[in-house]
Amino acid sequence: MKIDSISRQLHGRQTGTTFYSLLEQIYGSLWSKQISSRHNISALFLEMVSLHSSTAIHSKNTAFFSTSSSHSRLSSFSPNSFTCSVSLRYNFPQCISSRPHSSMRNPKSKGLRVSCDAGREPLRVMISGAPASGKGTQCEMIVEKFGLVHISTGDLLRAEVSAGTEIGNKAKEYMDSGRLVPDEIVTAMVTSRLSRQDTTERGWLLDGYPRSSAQAQSLEKLNIRPDIYIVLDVPDGTLVERCIGRKLDPVTGKIYHLKNFPPETKEVKERLITRPDDTQEKVKSRLDTYKRNAEAVSSTYSDILNKIDGNRSKEVVFEDILTLLLQIQKEKAMPIDL
Ligand code: AP5
Repeated sequence: MKIDSISRQLHGRQTGTTFYSLLEQIYGSLWSKQISSRHNISALFLEMVSLHSSTAIHSKNTAFFSTSSSHSRLSSFSPNSFTCSVSLRYNFPQCISSRPHSSMRNPKSKGLRVSCDAGREPLRVMISGAPASGKGTQCEMIVEKFGLVHISTGDLLRAEVSAGTEIGNKAKEYMDSGRLVPDEIVTAMVTSRLSRQDTTERGWLLDGYPRSSAQAQSLEKLNIRPDIYIVLDVPDGTLVERCIGRKLDPVTGKIYHLKNFPPETKEVKERLITRPDDTQEKVKSRLDTYKRNAEAVSSTYSDILNKIDGNRSKEVVFEDILTLLLQIQKEKAMPIDL
């Protein structure tokens, strides 16, 4: 396959599968074995580029890198995020980039340079922590700031329960006793939600999933990985007190606390509801369940794990999260000079 036909195929939105099959067409089955590992994707991409030393990839946001670069700079590439207007061109450097790479201006530089633009990738965030550690509260603020699609398994399940669906009826007994709802039910819900177009466009914020090793592995198999795995760390005593004082507004979905965050008006106060699993006894059982599974889940994401002290005011906790997310966003959009 010629590079100009790659150009046509890559133009427009591509799924990971398309990207894999495209690579397979270009490089043959040897590659198809390697691309089964998600860790190889960025290296593979780089290799693809390096084999075509005259290749440039160019689109709205431009990133520069050379084939002598470290692969880690390309780690933001994933097959699913290779979803952009991309065009490949021959005859580098004549036909590309309005912004020359610094080494192009340096006559001594012999390094192979490639301009690449995979479009601006949206953020993919996972937030975890014990019951009442403040995940939902932080998610409200993250969504407001970054516009990510918030996927909370607790909220999805509660919606099923109140709608009295088959899933809801099954889930209810587990939720009421503080146990995890069976993996297959929750995983089907999450993967179906993640496959919708808005998550690709706006990015996603997974709250309360994965919660078991099996759930984490399900995502790994689908090559669904966050940019960051945030864990909110709060002492047990505080968690119990937060759960017991929690109230929810069924109209706006907003989370309140009778002492920490009381409702703004009498009208709101009167309509607040208490979650059935927010009793002292059930909180303890939920906490035990969390502790039994936490290690297995966080070990899957140890390379991107960020533990945050959640035992501070919600604004201060959010400041830490904001700093981390802005940094990731910056890295994703940053032109890479090598
Ligand atoms: P889920 O709804 O996810 O419950 P959870 O993990 O126990 O977490 P919470 O929603 O209780 O707390 P939160 O961390 O969001 O804290 P919040 O911001 O509300 O899951 C419920 C059930 O569904 C599970 O038990 C399970 O049965 C099932 N389920 C869900 N996901 C599943 C999965 N993946 N697999 C299987 N089963 C699953 O804050 C709590 C309170 O503290 C609020 O009142 C808030 O106002 C207050 N607060 C928050 N931050 C602060 C702060 N910084 N300072 C003071 N107060 C604060």
